[in-house]
Amino acid sequence: MITTVAEIAAYEGQTVTLRGWVYNASGKGKLLFLQIRDGSGIIQAVCNKVELGDELFESLKRLGQESSLEITGKVSADSRSKLGFELHVSGAHIVGTSEGYPITPKDHGPNFLYDHRHLWFRSKRPHAILHVRHLIIQAIRNYFDSRGFLLLDSPIFTPNACEGTSTLFETEYFGQTAYLSQSGQLYQEAGATAFGKTYCFGPTFRAEKSDTRRHLNEFWMVEPEIAWIDLDGIMDMCEDFVVEVVAHVLKNGRQHLEELERDISVLERVQKPFPRISYDDACAMLEKLGHPVEPEDDFGSPHETELTKQFDRPIMVHRYPSIVKAFYMKADPENPARALGVDVLAPEGYGEIIGGGQREDSYDELVRKIHHHQLPMASFEWYLDLRRYGTVPHGGMGAGVERLVTWICGIHNVREAIPFPRTITRLTP
Ligand code: 4AD
Ligand code: MG
Repeated sequence: MITTVAEIAAYEGQTVTLRGWVYNASGKGKLLFLQIRDGSGIIQAVCNKVELGDELFESLKRLGQESSLEITGKVSADSRSKLGFELHVSGAHIVGTSEGYPITPKDHGPNFLYDHRHLWFRSKRPHAILHVRHLIIQAIRNYFDSRGFLLLDSPIFTPNACEGTSTLFETEYFGQTAYLSQSGQLYQEAGATAFGKTYCFGPTFRAEKSDTRRHLNEFWMVEPEIAWIDLDGIMDMCEDFVVEVVAHVLKNGRQHLEELERDISVLERVQKPFPRISYDDACAMLEKLGHPVEPEDDFGSPHETELTKQFDRPIMVHRYPSIVKAFYMKADPENPARALGVDVLAPEGYGEIIGGGQREDSYDELVRKIHHHQLPMASFEWYLDLRRYGTVPHGGMGAGVERLVTWICGIHNVREAIPFPRTITRLTP
């Protein structure tokens, strides 16, 4: 019977075959202990020279880390191991040998590990992080699919600069200039007027010029957009969404969080309501905390860190200065210098995980803003149609998957939150 480590409990007392790789080996004399990983888990395989015979025993003993093999043995309970079972080996077939595997149990520098990312994620820590990422993506899809949103994929090639012209990746497109999408939002606005509520979920690209622990040049974003909603409604959704995503990981990914030594209590406190703080109130708080913000300026990461330290759960900062926000944001009718936008900031200094808000729905105002931001009007004509033909109050948000993963896993750098990170200094592997 061929099975996997994850399913081993069902076979106690039986003889099974596992297909995997040698994760580690130890032993002495007539005993050899192989840690076998098969992608679903790790099991200790006990090899006894007397039972296996000299030839097989010696060839197993010579196997380097990450050699691949099919290994057969009897499953028995083992209370000392985390898995609770071990394999008493009766036979093995070596498939692929491996010598000099570069990632050994000793410490390696981060650059070395990222150079070997294609191998590195066979190890326990990236394994745990990428499992949490999978659960987060599952929770994201469940969230929108169970609430009547239509998945409407936005294009990757686009003529529009959605999030400012300073981070565009430009490419030649049959004689025209195209950009890699910085955000699928503008297309979701078209979707919301056609279907009521839609979302896109895909890779987005930003030519961020600096290499920070929070920035990638390629990252995944989920962007829901809803017709007939205001900023308060958007904040309600952001809060509900974050609570549900965290709860899904807590329910289904505890072993991965434990592997990462994540402080679970921090995640358990992620409950509604999240504090809602206006930008102006946040500035007053920061002033008192000794981290003043320049008038009408955006927050830097030290501001976000200091502010979030004051709370035990994510916070929502709304109504930032219009001048630091994107062209599409609707101005607050009560104070046009403020935009009806919101950033959700994660606790423990993780910073912004979501950006969103209410969109400018007036044709004239939008035209004025496109001019003001010096964006090429021609490429926004289609977008202006959404205001020409039955405009309505609407809004949405964008949640960065890797920022969520980084925070939920409690890891330091967003690079670890994606299988193959793309940063200013890294295109390989
Ligand atoms: O705040 P941003 O720029 O908002 C938008 O793109 C809107 N169009 C979204 C919308 O309303 N539909 O980006 C949204 C989120 C951020 O909060 C952050 O989580 C993530 O995307 N993000 C990045 N993640 C990793 N690396 C980067 N360089 C990121 N830039 C933004
Ligand atoms: Mg933002």
